[in-house]
Amino acid sequence: MRKVSFAEFGGPDVLRLIDAEEPHAGPGRIRIAVRAAGVNPVDWRIREGQVLKAHPIELPSGVGLDASGVVDEVGEGVEGVAVGDHVFGEGADTYAEFAVLSAWARMPEGLTFEEAAGYPSVVETALRVLREVGVRPGQTLLVSGASGGVGSAVLQIARERGIAVIGTAGAANQDYLRGLGATATTYGEGWVERVRRLGPVDAALDLAGSGVLRELVELAGDPRKVVSIADLRAPEFGVRFSGVAGSVPDALAEAVTLISRGRLHIPVEKSYPLAEAAAAHADSQAGHARGRRVLVV
Ligand SMILES: NC(=O)c1ccc[n+]([C@@H]2O[C@H](COP(=O)([O-])OP(=O)(O)OC[C@H]3O[C@@H](n4cnc5c(N)ncnc54)[C@H](OP(=O)(O)O)[C@@H]3O)[C@@H](O)[C@H]2O)c1
Repeated sequence: MRKVSFAEFGGPDVLRLIDAEEPHAGPGRIRIAVRAAGVNPVDWRIREGQVLKAHPIELPSGVGLDASGVVDEVGEGVEGVAVGDHVFGEGADTYAEFAVLSAWARMPEGLTFEEAAGYPSVVETALRVLREVGVRPGQTLLVSGASGGVGSAVLQIARERGIAVIGTAGAANQDYLRGLGATATTYGEGWVERVRRLGPVDAALDLAGSGVLRELVELAGDPRKVVSIADLRAPEFGVRFSGVAGSVPDALAEAVTLISRGRLHIPVEKSYPLAEAAAAHADSQAGHARGRRVLVV
């Protein structure tokens, strides 16, 4: 089969499409014929060797955590899923024609494979940070970096829970944030004053890692009301850095419910063929997104 692999840490051009042995589903796992793989910032952080502590790997290595596809092997002890089912979930080396998943759910009616590949990590992260920041219905949450994959999920889940959101994004994404139910403002020069004018904030999320933790603590009034997923200096400000994934099966189950009820939709910013994984990484690293990028197999 063909898969994307890299033999040394570095920029997008270390990615190669190679011929490789097919993986097989061991106990508790399934294998899918991959139809689409989600491109997450962690994929290029691993490729650069930035996050070796959290994701120790041996080189050469495959790439990718999220995928959607058609089940073609069911490992020992696995129940409730059969060959031919359409699923989405998390696994390893998903930028490939076949991949083994460790967590999955049946795709909801009406979702395309391309769309489905964008949900798993994003929804797990969104549910986790909302839980950890402790924001309640009726309160106001400030989200810095609200238009990306994680932000898109946070805004819609917060709306569903009756939490008001003020979100920051680039000028091109202001209407997008409003469409997801948030009050929108731009980041950059003067953003703190713009947020203050929109009213008091009970809690804040840093989803962009743009060096604004001091300001988020000021606006939320307490470092314990701020969580970051993208700024490793969080502890310097008394802020929690959230980096340990919660239950992916629970997140997928919640995603299925919300998607089926028309309450959650992560748009596909752009699709790329597997052979153009390097371009997808370069675009993701440029740091501006509306929803998720995916590779199509
Ligand atoms: N710790 C964890 O468990 C965990 C889990 C998932 C993701 N992450 C990290 O969290 C970050 C976000 O992930 P993602 O998947 O949502 O990324 P993404 O889809 O690439 O989105 C990045 C977003 O950042 C926004 N942005 C860029 N510059 C900004 C600035 N100066 N101020 C505010 N927002 C800015 C962009 O908005 P515009 O396009 O509108 O400019 C874009 O929407 C990444 O760094 C990722 O590595 C961590």
